[in-house]
Parts: sequence; structure tokens; C-alpha cells
Amino acid sequence: MRIDIITVLPELMKSPFEASIMKRSIAAGIVQVYFHNLRDYTSDNYKSIDDTQYGGGAGMVMMVEPIDKCIRKLQEQRSYDEVIYMTPDGQTLNQGIANHISLKQNIIILCGHYKGVDQRVRDHLITREISIGDYVLSGGELGAVVLCDAIVRLIPGVLGNETSALTDSFQDNLLAPPIYTKPRDYKGWKVPPVLFSGNFPEIEKWRDEQAFKHTKTNRPDLLGDDV
Ligand code: ADE
Repeated sequence: MRIDIITVLPELMKSPFEASIMKRSIAAGIVQVYFHNLRDYTSDNYKSIDDTQYGGGAGMVMMVEPIDKCIRKLQEQRSYDEVIYMTPDGQTLNQGIANHISLKQNIIILCGHYKGVDQRVRDHLITREISIGDYVLSGGELGAVVLCDAIVRLIPGVLGNETSALTDSFQDNLLAPPIYTKPRDYKGWKVPPVLFSGNFPEIEKWRDEQAFKHTKTNRPDLLGDDV
């Protein structure tokens, strides 16, 4: 997968791609990530990317021209499956959306700033708008990093154990069950004995029950129950 990220703050985003799973997926050649600074696509001496709102109102708006130039330049070089705009009023990111995007070849992610982008960007250049939750960040950069992490780990070959993403929370609309490792007893805090019973059908049953209980307590909305 190739990910092209359009931002005014590439320095805010680079380190998450230089560690752990994202770094490994890039080193293995499974993922390529490129940053594009919007200021390189401006046409005035001040390298302006924003201006005041027509009709009045507080806050600056990101202008259509630099964004259009940057996206068009990328699209002249290859075709893109998605042009994603990170914004608090987008579709809320969930595992289903992450699964869907992880199957794509080439994507562009545009990070918003200030009040957001000129509506014409959204109407003519963007294929999908994503929010990472109902709160407002200073810009789309951290949201874009979250999105990249969520999708990259799903690409086949990225995680060491290929099945491990399948047992994550949310893959079956349930949260994951509790997990334990050595020792069996730590200061009297014991691991449930079923887990070292060797009885795998019983272990599976226990995990299903626990996943259901955990979901009922923390996220009843996932079960379609009242919140
Ligand atoms: N930009 C600002 N807030 C955001 C959010 N919650 N999700 C995605 N992008 C954003």
C-alpha cells in the first residue's frame, strides 16, 4: 500500500512511522508513506494556505488551490483508490472502515487545519471523510496517524502472527476477552484455572463468555443494547 499524506505539519507526524509495526511494514516494503507539505503548492510569497471566510465568521479556511494542485500532481502519477479528509465532522473511524481501507493500493490522506477546508475541496476532490472521535483536535495530523496505524496492521504480512488481527477487539463486534501470562499466581492474584486446563473447547467457551460480559459492561452499544 502507498499512503500519501498532505499536511502543513509533516514534522508532527513522522516519528510514529519510525517505530514498531509501521516502521517494520515500511522496511519490509509492504507500505510506502510519503509526506507532502501543502506550503510547497502555494502561489504567493507568504506561502499562504488559508484565508478568511466568505460571509464572515471566526477562523481561517484552508484554500482550495494548494490542495487541488497537490492532489492533482499525485493523481497525474498514479490512480488513487481513496482521497481521505481527516475532519471531526467525518464518518467515525471503526474497525469495519479500517478493514475496508486496508485492502486498498494507493490512498491520499489530507489533514485539515483551522476551521477546515473550503467546501469545494470536499465536493470535488475527496472520496471519504473520517473522524477519529467526537472531539476536536488542533489538526488532522494525529487523526491521520491513528488511521494509518489502524489500517497498516491489517495488511497481510505486517503482523508477525497473521491471525492476531482477527482476534482483536471489534473484529466480531465484541471486545476482546481478558488475557494472562506467567506467573499463574502473583501476590494471590490468580489466573483463571480454565486457561491451563488444556481443554480447548472449554477455553474457547470461557473466552466467548468473557468477551460478551466485557462488551456488555464497557460497550453495550456494540450489542445493540441501550447506552
Ligand atoms: N481534525 C480535528 N479533529 C479531528 C478528529 N476528531 N478526527 C479527525 N480529524 C480531526
